[in-house]
Amino acid sequence: MKAAVLHTLGDAPRYEDFADPAVAQGEVLVRIKAASLKNFDKMMASGAHYERHSVLPVVCGNDGVGVLEDGTRVFCGGPRPPYGMMAERAVVPRLRCMPVPDNVSDEIAAALPNPALSSWLPLIWRAGMKPGETVLILGGTGVAGKLAIQIAKHLGAGRVVAAGRNKNTLESLLELGADATICIDMAEEELRDAFLREARTSNFDVVLDYLWGHPTEVLLDALTGHDIRTVSSRVRLIEIGDMAGASVNVRGTALRSSGVELYGSGGGGVVPVQAIFEAIPQVWSLAAQGKLRIDIEKVPLAEVGNVWRKDSHGRRIVFVP
Ligand SMILES: NC(=O)c1ccc[n+]([C@@H]2O[C@H](COP(=O)([O-])OP(=O)(O)OC[C@H]3O[C@@H](n4cnc5c(N)ncnc54)[C@H](OP(=O)(O)O)[C@@H]3O)[C@@H](O)[C@H]2O)c1
Repeated sequence: MKAAVLHTLGDAPRYEDFADPAVAQGEVLVRIKAASLKNFDKMMASGAHYERHSVLPVVCGNDGVGVLEDGTRVFCGGPRPPYGMMAERAVVPRLRCMPVPDNVSDEIAAALPNPALSSWLPLIWRAGMKPGETVLILGGTGVAGKLAIQIAKHLGAGRVVAAGRNKNTLESLLELGADATICIDMAEEELRDAFLREARTSNFDVVLDYLWGHPTEVLLDALTGHDIRTVSSRVRLIEIGDMAGASVNVRGTALRSSGVELYGSGGGGVVPVQAIFEAIPQVWSLAAQGKLRIDIEKVPLAEVGNVWRKDSHGRRIVFVP
């Protein structure tokens, strides 16, 4: 079969022939129709993620949509290495397959779960967001950030502030439901003031942080010991991604004086598997009703080597074998 094959951590995968998978106990064979290219797939392949590939050569791709031998169209994840979803076929645990409704396309069904659940799950399970609360999204211009704006509003946020570095994209976020935007591409002092101004308009109750690194340090500084009301309320800051830096320097005073509570949300988190299985059909349904928008770029799998490192500017690449 044809597949996106990674030979060395740090390289881009190559489109080439790979041995067909054979089904083992508890598995199903999936004929793949669509697999999205996420930051997670890139980090696994680069060796930078804690779940880096341990078997090489390996087919890339952690999840996707395909058809089972009985004709059922499913979304599935966790293919058994060295197989992956960026291929014509893969083997996956039967228990990690869920049927895709007819009104959702292969591409949307494949692209939505990872970035949509990156906000859906922590808003419910980490932040315990209450109706009317204010949510700040750091990294609002990316695929996951744009979905986070829409999902926070859908789940009852009263005000959503989106922060990112791309001015043109920031403007378009108002159409997605953002009430205000902050351009982080400015001098540190100005950015600190911009965060403060927004916090004075309405305290940040929840921060969904896709950036980490310097922007988060400036935010923490802005919330530290100033004469704003955040000291009397909880600010649940949830680290979801680290596009701007792998670590932050947190001063003790930031935690003592701001009401900030630090959390993280990812694969190793506290969310029950059942909650994931319940959330995915809900985001598909919202997309089918036109209430959740994701920008997709369909790309033939044969192009994998050319687009692997491409900046897709807030669009999700979906490979079609
Ligand atoms: N924990 C989870 O469950 C989970 C799930 C999904 C995603 N994630 C993580 O969330 C992050 C975002 O994912 P995504 O799908 O939205 O990716 P994406 O579509 O590639 O978006 C990346 C975002 O990061 C911004 N960015 C990149 N480098 C930056 C820098 N040096 N300084 C400031 N901003 C920077 C981009 O801004 P521009 O628009 O200006 O380029 C964009 O807003 C990734 O780290 C991903 O691994 C985590």
